Amino acid sequence: VLPEKVKIVEVGPRDGLQNEKTLVPTEAKISLINMLSESGLPVIEATSFVSPKWVPQMADQVEVMKGISRKPGVSYPVLTPNLKGFQAAVKAGASEVAIFGAASELFSKKNINCSVDESLQRFDEVMKAAKEAGVPVRGYVSCVVGCPYEGRVAPEKVAHVAKRLYSMGCYEISLGDTIGVGTPGSMTEMLEAVSREVPVSALAVHCHDTYGQALANILVALQMGINVVDSSVAGLGGCPYAQGASGNVATEDVVYMLHGLGIQTGVDLSKLMDAGAFICRTLNRKTSSKVAQATCKL
Ligand code: HMG
Ligand code: MG
Repeated sequence: VLPEKVKIVEVGPRDGLQNEKTLVPTEAKISLINMLSESGLPVIEATSFVSPKWVPQMADQVEVMKGISRKPGVSYPVLTPNLKGFQAAVKAGASEVAIFGAASELFSKKNINCSVDESLQRFDEVMKAAKEAGVPVRGYVSCVVGCPYEGRVAPEKVAHVAKRLYSMGCYEISLGDTIGVGTPGSMTEMLEAVSREVPVSALAVHCHDTYGQALANILVALQMGINVVDSSVAGLGGCPYAQGASGNVATEDVVYMLHGLGIQTGVDLSKLMDAGAFICRTLNRKTSSKVAQATCKL
């Protein structure tokens, strides 16, 4: 049985833009977030409090946080890899954050410059500070089926890291197929292993669409009872430390599929498509959303 409602976590302003080579004007990021807010999305990941040397595109995080119009009922989480990032995020007005770990040692090293165990220690510090400040924390696990440096990743490793983040106090664990290599087969195997350690009600899937499997992978996750899905407007994005991987599954395509299944999202597809068209114009880029490309209608 499929869920009646799905919460979509829009990651376009963060995952979508972090990999852009030329700096996207802060004003455009703010307009994008405001348009996404108007479309009815419940969660919009706004930016990252990471090192500007590592990810220059996110260097305007404070201006973005100060510039957006926060719609009541919408949350605007930001990525925080360590205590320094957490403190800066709270100072800039963030009321929700996300920590991001990996199921693969080499990816952890390349992405956040530490081992998986070291990252969990850093996250523990963030978690303690967040508990004191009453800030909810989401946890990501990257490379849940494959790693750009290590190849196939064992489901047990994913389950282990997911369990650690959940026991630490993350209210939701987002399972990231960072390089988009998963299939409904490998996703099912991974989700079965993780759901033995973390309740399905606390899981989300975060699919990149490199091999065109993202919607199918999301569908198997829904069939297993997962009702939180990450996606990026216009299918923008990718991780700077995962060369060759394409963007997240497009939010427009996820919404079209969910509504077709009779699942509520609260999202107005036409407003969402306006936001997608806006950011593609700004980036001078063709959309990766199939729904936005489609010219025929039912
Ligand atoms: P480091 O160099 O090991 O950190 O980087 P450090 O503690 O040794 O500090 C070095 C310098 O960075 C110092 O500055 C610090 O102040 C500064 P300096 O003295 O040289 O001028 N620094 C910071 N500055 C701003 N904000 C901070 C911060 N922390 C230290 N929070 C670090 C470690 C984690 C900072 C670095 O590796 C980093 O920023 N990595 C971010 C990588 C990233 O953002 N990747 C993309 C997001 S993850 C993703 O896309 C996957 C996901 O979508 C899920 C999926 O698809 O699987 C989430
Ligand atoms: Mg991602």
